[in-house]
Amino acid sequence: MASNKITLASILFLTIFTYSNAKLGYLKEIELTVYYQDYSGDQNTTVIEIPGPSIRPLNFSSSGWVLHRVMMSVVFIDGEYKGSTIEIYGNDPRSGQREVPVVGGTGKFRLARGYATFETLYFDPVRSHAIIQSNMTILHY
Ligand SMILES: *[C@@H]1O[C@H](CO)[C@@H](O)[C@H](O)[C@H]1NC(C)=O
Ligand SMILES: *[C@@H]1O[C@H](CO)[C@@H](O)[C@H](O)[C@H]1NC(C)=O
Ligand SMILES: *[C@@H]1O[C@H](CO)[C@@H](O)[C@H](O)[C@H]1NC(C)=O
Repeated sequence: MASNKITLASILFLTIFTYSNAKLGYLKEIELTVYYQDYSGDQNTTVIEIPGPSIRPLNFSSSGWVLHRVMMSVVFIDGEYKGSTIEIYGNDPRSGQREVPVVGGTGKFRLARGYATFETLYFDPVRSHAIIQSNMTILHY
């Protein structure tokens, strides 16, 4: 009787495992490079400061604004990944080459995980204009 139970449990486990595998398919790895154009302080502002007494343009040079925290969605509006998103969340020391986790995604990047590296290639403190390069290595189904 006991061995029958074990056999039944094994069959159930194998069934669930096989079913899950068939539904999700196999993990694929993808490498992407994207460039962020961050402007702040003029009519073309793309980044704003959230903490503080009022919402105002972000000044990368001023002290006190930095939470050193990255929380971003990469939204694809065209091409092969149109309608899909990649979610990036983690700590950003804001100097040198930084690494931040990729924690999820939607569309073609469902159940994504991986990491993204960031490097500031250009920075103009007067206009608060930064060009940031990011390489992402992502596993997804
Ligand atoms: C803002 O963007 C517009 C359209 O690209 C451009 O013509 C204008 O010069 C930009 N303004 C500044 C201050 O860079
Ligand atoms: C940002 O702050 C620095 C230092 O206070 C200042 O020199 C610079 O003009 C400011 N930039 C903008 C766009 O306000
Ligand atoms: C991105 O990859 C390129 C090519 O390997 C490399 O030259 C560059 O330094 C990388 N940048 C970051 C931010 O990882």
